[in-house]
Amino acid sequence: MIVTIDGPAGAGKSTVARELARRLGFDHLDTGAMYRCVALAAMRRGISPEDRSGLSRLLEETEILMESDRVLLKGEDVTREIRAPEITTLSRAVADNPQVRQHLNRLQRQIAQGRNIVTEGRDQGTIVFPEAECKFFLTADPAERARRRWLDLQAQGRRMSFDDVLREQRERDARDASRAIAPLRPADDAIVIDSTGLTADQVVSRMEEIVRRRQAGGGA
Ligand code: C5P
Repeated sequence: MIVTIDGPAGAGKSTVARELARRLGFDHLDTGAMYRCVALAAMRRGISPEDRSGLSRLLEETEILMESDRVLLKGEDVTREIRAPEITTLSRAVADNPQVRQHLNRLQRQIAQGRNIVTEGRDQGTIVFPEAECKFFLTADPAERARRRWLDLQAQGRRMSFDDVLREQRERDARDASRAIAPLRPADDAIVIDSTGLTADQVVSRMEEIVRRRQAGGGA
């Protein structure tokens, strides 16, 4: 069974997806981490995200391995490095490249093949797994999302003002929603959950109940 969770940055997708997968005994796939890996590989090789032929050559030799708690780039553990703010910025530009998207979509389908999986991103229910049995779109109030992001950054020891986090988020949201390929939007058959004012545990419980009902053959 494939469960997709899409939504904007800071809606709590990663925490919720990981915990939902754990409760269901499913695997978890963070597709944002895959875009971040390509961005890191490009940065290290000095390839600009606008350099289409450079990026497509890079994709041929980039080997991304998604383990349950680690992300490996050509065998090297880059789990922490891909969270750096400059990679966040770069991954956005890399995600606009159609070849990168095609390559990662293929990889995501390969990874999910024959598995029970909770996969999170921006386009999982719309583009990559339109046939997924259970689709969620997780959102939250912009100020709430920025607050969570800011707290995360603080916890990682990265200093950034709340206003800067909110401003960057606004730019990122606009870009994700308006891009020509794979714009962020809920799939027609997605269940939209607004996590504003809910704990991660409450969100996961709501999702778990829906997935279990579908597993048992019931409707939404
Ligand atoms: O979710 P996260 O912030 O890690 O995603 C990194 C970047 O990858 C974001 O800019 C996002 O737009 C992009 N992305 C995407 N499609 C996905 C997952 C992430 O375009 N399925």
